[in-house]
Amino acid sequence: MFLKGFIFCCLLAISIADDETNNKLFPEDFMFGAATASYQVEGAWDEDGKGENIWDRYIHSNPELIANNDSGDVACDSYHKYKEDVAILKEVGVDFYRFSLSWSRILPTGYVNKVNLPGVTYYKNLIKELKNNGIEPLITIFHWDLPQPLQDMGGWPSDFIVETFAEYARLCFELFGDDVKYWVTFNEPKQICLGGYGQGYNAPGISLTGLADYVCAHHVLQAHAKAWHIYDQEFRATQQGQVSITIDTRWFEPASDSEEDAVAAETALQFNYGWYANPVYNSDYPEIMKTRIAERSLAEGFNHSRLPAFTDEEIAYISGTFDYMAVNMYSSILAVATDEAPIAEPSYNYDMGIDGYQPDDWESASAPWFKITPWGIRKLLNWLKETYNNPTIIITENGMPDNSSVIDDVTRVRFFRDYLSNVRSAMEDGVNVIGYTAWSIMDNFEWGLGYTQKYGLYHVDFDSINRTRTPKTSAAYYKKVTETHCLVDTCEE
Ligand code: NOJ
Repeated sequence: MFLKGFIFCCLLAISIADDETNNKLFPEDFMFGAATASYQVEGAWDEDGKGENIWDRYIHSNPELIANNDSGDVACDSYHKYKEDVAILKEVGVDFYRFSLSWSRILPTGYVNKVNLPGVTYYKNLIKELKNNGIEPLITIFHWDLPQPLQDMGGWPSDFIVETFAEYARLCFELFGDDVKYWVTFNEPKQICLGGYGQGYNAPGISLTGLADYVCAHHVLQAHAKAWHIYDQEFRATQQGQVSITIDTRWFEPASDSEEDAVAAETALQFNYGWYANPVYNSDYPEIMKTRIAERSLAEGFNHSRLPAFTDEEIAYISGTFDYMAVNMYSSILAVATDEAPIAEPSYNYDMGIDGYQPDDWESASAPWFKITPWGIRKLLNWLKETYNNPTIIITENGMPDNSSVIDDVTRVRFFRDYLSNVRSAMEDGVNVIGYTAWSIMDNFEWGLGYTQKYGLYHVDFDSINRTRTPKTSAAYYKKVTETHCLVDTCEE
């Protein structure tokens, strides 16, 4: 009742009309969702038999790596408050909830020989609660929280991980698949590999750029493909779901109309998105990556390319392992051609070999990498359509951070309106977008930035033991959109 009153009052207060906003209705079957991820919301890091994962270890051993020495030990306490989470998702009117499974909560050692029943029950209960409230689960199998024992075996740069992940994925399909129509195997593999093993800004914090990041990616791609084939052969007939991999990128716009900057922008897109997408949606790594990395590796004195090579058999096995395309997009950057970096230590950035910047007159959001560029999502969607043969697309994340506890978040309302407007325009351009996911339903633990960056439609009071959830103005706006499929006051068919 309180929520309803709040949402009604806020909706009256926000101006949603804007001449520039696309005023076409979203199709009736278009799916609107909201997302979270296990480590960022669940808390209960060592409860009920959950094992330690790499984020637990990374943060507990080096608390200073995270803003304000914070951690996800309690986070939004969703392990205990999942019913409240479902209630707010229902209030916002979403068709689906994208959440991830904590591997260590289901398999404390990472291996399938020991299944932790309370962990399984938690996810079964969450799924049941969603279904009872008319919300479909869209499940991410891996959103960065690798079981620590598997990291002790070498983690993603070790090849045992391919089979180990495949067995975990099979178990997830077995346990939950009867109730799941959409699966994502991996969330943002670039952040797993470049962040975790290349540049070291994510757990486990290893900095071996130009080496471990590529080997990690090689295994993630093989593990994804294996999971897709397992689903295809063992579960599709009975469960009839769809499996994909969520790949993230910013839009790279050429900084000028020179040919060199156009090449730089395309190179950046291939190194960021194509690295993972080309093997899955086309075949093998992008040519530009194979060429540049091989050339630089040889010049550096290696006997072979630092980018591992897939065999023809592997290329064929990975190619086509998707039922829809899943993409995360937040911001954009201007790409500039630059002189070849001197031959020195291996480096993903030198391999890519472009410069990029975000002009001062682009509107900032609070995160350092974040400028608000709604036009970029339309350009990216069109590029995906052209580059990957017009796939069916679900945007699995989009949203914006602020660094305050503001409830009347008018900038976020404008953000969602303007990005969604560009999504709708991309659909008019012929891009086949069938779903959109707001990140996030609530403020949560933003990795290295801790709780300093808030993305939620709901504010979470991290000072209160209750982790009270309070709707922001953006929740009211998103509710209007999910209910009417219209971004402005009145829409055309
Ligand atoms: C990407 C990640 O998937 C998610 O975990 C993160 O919180 C958001 N984007 C915002 O940075």
